[in-house]
Amino acid sequence: MSIRQKLTFMMIGLSVTAVILTIISIGAYLIYDIRASKAQELSVTAAITGDRNSAAVMFLDNERVQRNLDIFRLNPSVMLSCIYNEQGILFAAYQADGSAINCPQTTGEIKKDLPDMLVALQDIRQNAQNIGKVYIAADTREIDAYISRILMISGVIMLFVCAMVWLLTLYLQRTISGPILELAAAAKSITENHDYSIEAKSAYKDETGVLAQAFNNMIAAVRERDKQLQKVNETLEQKVAMRTRQLEESKRKAETASEAKSEFLRNMSHEFRPPLHAMVSFSSYGIKEYETAERSQLKQYFEMMGRGAQRLARLVDSVLDLAKMEEGEQIFCMQRANMVEVAKRAAETVESLLKEKNLTLKIDTQEAHIDVVCDQDKIVQVLTNLIGNAIKFTPAGKSITIKTSVSQQDHDRKVTVAVIDEGVGIPDEEVELIFESFRQSSRTNTGAGGTGLGLAICRNIIDAHNGKIWAQNNKDADSKEQTGARVSFTMPCVLAEGNRVISTKSTEAVYGKAA
Ligand SMILES: Nc1ncnc2c1ncn2[C@@H]1O[C@H](COP(=O)(O)OP(=O)(O)OP(=O)(O)O)[C@@H](O)[C@H]1O
Ligand SMILES: [Mg+2]
Repeated sequence: MSIRQKLTFMMIGLSVTAVILTIISIGAYLIYDIRASKAQELSVTAAITGDRNSAAVMFLDNERVQRNLDIFRLNPSVMLSCIYNEQGILFAAYQADGSAINCPQTTGEIKKDLPDMLVALQDIRQNAQNIGKVYIAADTREIDAYISRILMISGVIMLFVCAMVWLLTLYLQRTISGPILELAAAAKSITENHDYSIEAKSAYKDETGVLAQAFNNMIAAVRERDKQLQKVNETLEQKVAMRTRQLEESKRKAETASEAKSEFLRNMSHEFRPPLHAMVSFSSYGIKEYETAERSQLKQYFEMMGRGAQRLARLVDSVLDLAKMEEGEQIFCMQRANMVEVAKRAAETVESLLKEKNLTLKIDTQEAHIDVVCDQDKIVQVLTNLIGNAIKFTPAGKSITIKTSVSQQDHDRKVTVAVIDEGVGIPDEEVELIFESFRQSSRTNTGAGGTGLGLAICRNIIDAHNGKIWAQNNKDADSKEQTGARVSFTMPCVLAEGNRVISTKSTEAVYGKAA
């Protein structure tokens, strides 16, 4: 049963009960009242009858008394009217047509309670003397008719009240059931469709309005919580995705490092074997032939052994250099210096090599003095390797240029140094690969005598100076043909001075990138 029907039934029930109770109490009072007034009326009638017939009773005028009593025919409710003489014997009687009772013969037989009858008994007095009695009995037909009328009117009133209450309920219950039904509809829709944008409406400021407001607040709270939950979910998803990526990255790095380590060990044994073999072979030739061989031949064996030992020593030095960097932190002695002078120092160290190959080295600089803060020895090491490479891969008679320039961007002053040669150049797709340890370009890996570690060490040193190092090819402006390589590095001119511990840790720097 809906709340609307419940309210309708409740209000009709309450109103009908109230109406019935009112009718019952008013009806009971009216019935009691009419019975009392009828009894009174009958008593008065009996008294008047006694008074009017007192003389006739006294003079025993029976005929006159009888005539007087016949007047009761006009009142159909009077069933009996009896007059008794002084001795209490029936003197005259009136009996209505169809009356079921008769006048008692003596006053002693008179009954004061008769079913469905009202009775009255009065003395007949003459000069303060009791000369007889009047006895009247009337039926209650009139009262019954009155009660029936009351019941009928009550029924009509009740029907009218029911109709009015029903109409009023129809209108009034809307103020209570309307908002509740609306609330129920909103709750149902939310449950079925999970649509939390719905709101319950209530135009009233009573408890139903408070209920609707509380419901809306609750839904708003759920909406807000949903939003936050969604956000948390998204963040969680992002975090999971990020962690997964980090894990994958760490896994990839670990795998790369492990592969690189294996590659490093392979490269090491590969690089160490030729000079070692050369030394072992030439020493055993020497031992075998020391008595028979020419002295010049023996000298050649020693030279070959020496070259092998030198190469091994270089290899060991480079590997140790790189291993030191792998330890993670190196002390850099950062001092104020003139980059042009640093370049000249590096050029001096390779002078004999230049002469050997009949190469010329030029220092091309915008300014004679370029003030920088750097670890001079380390930058000389970088430049020595770059010039050394240029010497190795440039045909005799050509020239090599060291070009220094300074650029200013906002407050950052940078120095750029490029070593430009006229050699074989580097295949374009390998300009980045050659910075990996043990890497040699496909154009020069024909035994030029290097270890392939020099540029990896250079990159570490330049990184520690917050700089960048890269390789490219010189191109002829007209033919676009390669006319040698150009390896450059750039770094800030101003860095903090003093002995500084700088992190140089790079797995790739030591072990090289796994192929
Ligand atoms: N100026 C250049 N012209 C052509 N190829 C170059 C030049 N500089 C470097 N390369 C290539 O890059 C490789 C790596 O150079 P890197 O200096 O690292 O090693 P290396 O010179 O072979 O040996 P190391 O310097 O350890 O004695 C060289 O072997 C060469 O193949
Ligand atoms: Mg080199």
